[in-house]
Amino acid sequence: MSRDLFGELSAWQAQFGDVVHLRIWPEHQVIVTDPQLVRELLVSHHDALIRWERGMRVFAQLHGHSVFIAEGKAWKDKRHALQPAFSGKAVEAFVPTIAAATAAALDRWPADGTPWQIESALTSLTMDVILRMLFSSEIGDEARVAEEAVRTVSAVANAEFYWPVSAPDWMPWKRAKRQALAALNGLVERHLQARLKQPEDAWPDDLLARLLRLHRDDGQAWPLQAVHDECMTTFLAGHETAAATLSWWAWCMGAHPEAQAAAAAEVRLGLGDRPPSAADLPQLPYLAQTVQETLRLYPTAPMLNSRRSTRPIALGDWYFPAGTMFMLPVLLMHRDARWFPEPLRFQPERFGPEAAEFPRGAYLPFGAGPRVCLGQHLALTEMKVIAAMILQRYVLSAPDGMAPPQLRFHVSLRPERALQLRVSPRQQPGYSTATAG
Ligand code: HEM
Repeated sequence: MSRDLFGELSAWQAQFGDVVHLRIWPEHQVIVTDPQLVRELLVSHHDALIRWERGMRVFAQLHGHSVFIAEGKAWKDKRHALQPAFSGKAVEAFVPTIAAATAAALDRWPADGTPWQIESALTSLTMDVILRMLFSSEIGDEARVAEEAVRTVSAVANAEFYWPVSAPDWMPWKRAKRQALAALNGLVERHLQARLKQPEDAWPDDLLARLLRLHRDDGQAWPLQAVHDECMTTFLAGHETAAATLSWWAWCMGAHPEAQAAAAAEVRLGLGDRPPSAADLPQLPYLAQTVQETLRLYPTAPMLNSRRSTRPIALGDWYFPAGTMFMLPVLLMHRDARWFPEPLRFQPERFGPEAAEFPRGAYLPFGAGPRVCLGQHLALTEMKVIAAMILQRYVLSAPDGMAPPQLRFHVSLRPERALQLRVSPRQQPGYSTATAG
């Protein structure tokens, strides 16, 4: 499993079916890939589940007690308080911010048609976007330090998941982790303290202001440490997943010129050269389908956080005792030929109005039930704005002879080797002013 997790899970699914029981002492683990049962688990049995304790302990070293980590009533209260700031309507206000960050980044893309580090450029861009949405701060030197720190803590977390306990961080070999944690906590704390020095009526309308108003209204439920923790989760969850998805999307566009041309034509028709506004986004359905199809083939959370039942659960024909661990490999469901014919083909039309329906639980890039991704509206809005603006300016293509990137699952799903693509200026269609004579 540690060598090829999804290959192994897929072989067991083929051999044993959609509910597979593993006995890995002392655990009873159950892998579920039946869409209806997965939805039932996440939606109907939500109250009887907690996330895998060891995984959450590792994540908590960075996220503290944020909504991502909390369970039970603490989680419910946080989620309820945060929901309005992340609603579809609320995130529309960020479209000009996202467009401004994207325009500034795209101005710097070399676009000379040589293979180029697009994954790294997209990671810097999504980090810039989240810093602007969260702190109204533009990317600066701190972004490079933060990028390196995020890489370090992700690699460390990925290793620690598989140890039963973590060695204390003061151990000499953990210096890189200590420095990375200090860099990220320092970044959040600097912005938080700088904002507290400003009078409230001078606060910009960003996510930090929305979080600090929770602190102002109820300092006991929302001490400054809780605001700090939410900033950290928003910063980390908010850029890493979007960067990974946009990288896969860029690959899909480069590898499928006809889909790219169709999406670019839609963008040109809807927007011309101007940056997208929130009102424009619903007018770009095919572009949205390219993002949805990317998330099907390359879900950046290919395995939801494993769940443990806290009481016995009846699921389909099965009865599971308290303490059972459920593994939910979304990637396998997204690539299941029963729901998505020719599953490895990139086909945005699957999400079009004419497409055949698939079971609701077969497509879960953002999870399902009460713990569904808090940032899904923000992520989809951000990715559509960035994708539209890339297509307005550039043509993406795969370097000659490039093989499809292999998958690497390290907290999120990324290409195994940093993705490089060719980026060339998009020729604008010529407009003739002559009239037929
Ligand atoms: C392509 C982008 C994204 C993907 C694919 C994604 C995916 C997910 C998934 C699958 C979960 C649920 C995990 C589970 O059930 O175990 C989740 C949870 C979460 N996501 Fe996202 N996410 C994305 C972007 C974002 C963004 C932009 C933010 C915030 C700015 C965000 C914040 C969160 C939070 C706070 C949770 C925990 C919610 C809770 O437990 O109540 N995500 N995400």
